[in-house]
Amino acid sequence: MKNLEVVKLPHPTLRKKAHEVRDFGDSLQELVEDMIVTMREQDGVGLAAPQVNKSMRLIVVEYPEDDSREDADAKLFVMVNPVIVKRSEETVLGMEGCLSVPDIVGEVERAERVEVRGLNRYGKKMKVRAKGWLARVFQHEIDHLDGVLFVDKATQVWKPSDQEAMQAEQV
Ligand code: CO
Repeated sequence: MKNLEVVKLPHPTLRKKAHEVRDFGDSLQELVEDMIVTMREQDGVGLAAPQVNKSMRLIVVEYPEDDSREDADAKLFVMVNPVIVKRSEETVLGMEGCLSVPDIVGEVERAERVEVRGLNRYGKKMKVRAKGWLARVFQHEIDHLDGVLFVDKATQVWKPSDQEAMQAEQV
């Protein structure tokens, strides 16, 4: 397992539409493990394969399902070929940062709730219903698979203060 290099803007892989995953063999399993390590080492709560220069529809997310509880444990999600099949009409604004866009945060409007369908790392169907910040992380990561970055959608972006930099979740 290794801590992979996270590519930064303007790396071209970040702007490509990533390919569907069809092979669930050893190389995918190794990439999944490496991405989990990389996300944790770099203090992210989500990571998409294009961020480690792999143009594949694969994301990892580690965040509590219900962040309204202070003591909630983070839950690890690994999802292959994820698709948002439902999104709430209700939207929320929140401050996002991204490991691939250093030293910038932005306010982004996202659906409050989403339902995501896809496959787990072994190719078995899975579904996640997410709300709040978890829903935001899924939307941010799935955008990465289409070459979309939060700065494209942000109503405003700015260089964060030290305190904001500490608060902003990197995804
Ligand atoms: Co990101």
